[in-house]
Amino acid sequence: MENLKGKVAIITGASSGIGEVTALELTKAGAKVVLGARRADRLEALAKKITDAGGEALWAVCDVTVREQVDKLAALAHEKYGRVDILINNAGIMLLSFMRNRHVDEWDKMIDVNIKGVLYAVAAVLPIMREQKSGIIVNISSVAGKRVLPSAAVYSGTKFALNAITEGLRQELSADDGIRVTSIQPGAVATELITHVTDAEAAKRAEMLDQIRILDAQDVAAAIVFAVSQPPHVNVNEVTLIPGDQRN
Ligand SMILES: NC(=O)c1ccc[n+]([C@@H]2O[C@H](COP(=O)([O-])OP(=O)(O)OC[C@H]3O[C@@H](n4cnc5c(N)ncnc54)[C@H](OP(=O)(O)O)[C@@H]3O)[C@@H](O)[C@H]2O)c1
Repeated sequence: MENLKGKVAIITGASSGIGEVTALELTKAGAKVVLGARRADRLEALAKKITDAGGEALWAVCDVTVREQVDKLAALAHEKYGRVDILINNAGIMLLSFMRNRHVDEWDKMIDVNIKGVLYAVAAVLPIMREQKSGIIVNISSVAGKRVLPSAAVYSGTKFALNAITEGLRQELSADDGIRVTSIQPGAVATELITHVTDAEAAKRAEMLDQIRILDAQDVAAAIVFAVSQPPHVNVNEVTLIPGDQRN
C-alpha cells in the first residue's frame, strides 16, 4: 500500500460519524486533512485532536448546499497545501419517511445535500485535480444505492443517483485525467444519521436495527483508507460493506 504521507484530503461532513473517524484514520496514515461541515465547534475540536496528536488539519464551516462555501473549502486546501489529492464526499442525510406521509421538505433536503452537495464539491476540485493529473474522489454511497426498502424511496433515490454520477465520473476522468473514483457502499453503521428521522412510522421501522450488530464508523473508515492507499494504476471502484447480521 502507498503511504499517504503528505497527501491532502478534503472531507465533507467531517463533524461526526464516518467523516470524523475517517479524518482521524487518514491523518494517522500521514495525510493532511481539510474538514468541512456545519457544526464549527465539532470541527474545531476534531482539528485540535488531530494536531495535538502530531497531525495536520484545517477546517472551515461548509454547508454543502451552498456552492460558495464548498468552493471556499477547496480553495482553503489548495491555498494552504498547494494541492488536493483526495476528496471524500461524505456529507449526507437520511431522513427516512413513508411516501404517503409527504415529507416534501425533507425530500428536497436529501436531494440538495446528497446529490447537489456532491456535485458542488466535484466541481470545486476538478480543475485542481485535472491540473495535477491525479486525484481520488471517494463518494460515500450506501447499499440503499443498489436496493430500495420501504421508507427509503427518496434516500435510495439520492444514492442511486450518486452511484450513476460516480460511474460517469470514473468513465470520464480515470483514463483521461488520472483521477480515480470510488464508491463506498455501507449497510447500517452506528452513527447519529438515523437520529434525525422525523417520520414516526419510519423511525419505528428502523428500530429493527437495534436487534443486530451493525457496522462501526471505524469499519467504513478502514475501507476508505484502503481505497485511497492503492498505487495509481489501481482504481478501487466499489466497496460494499454489510453487517454480517443484516439480511436486507
Ligand atoms: N450510518 C449509516 O447507516 C450509513 C449507511 C450507509 C451510508 N451512509 C452514509 O455515510 C455518510 C455519513 O453519514 P454518517 O452515518 O457518518 O452520519 P452522521 O454522523 O450524521 O454524519 C453526517 C455528516 O454530514 C454532515 N452534514 C449534514 N448535512 C450537511 C450539509 N448540509 N452540509 C455539510 N455537511 C452536512 C453532518 O455535519 P453537520 O451537521 O455538522 O453539518 C455530519 O458530519 C452519509 O453520506 C450517509 O448517507 C451512512
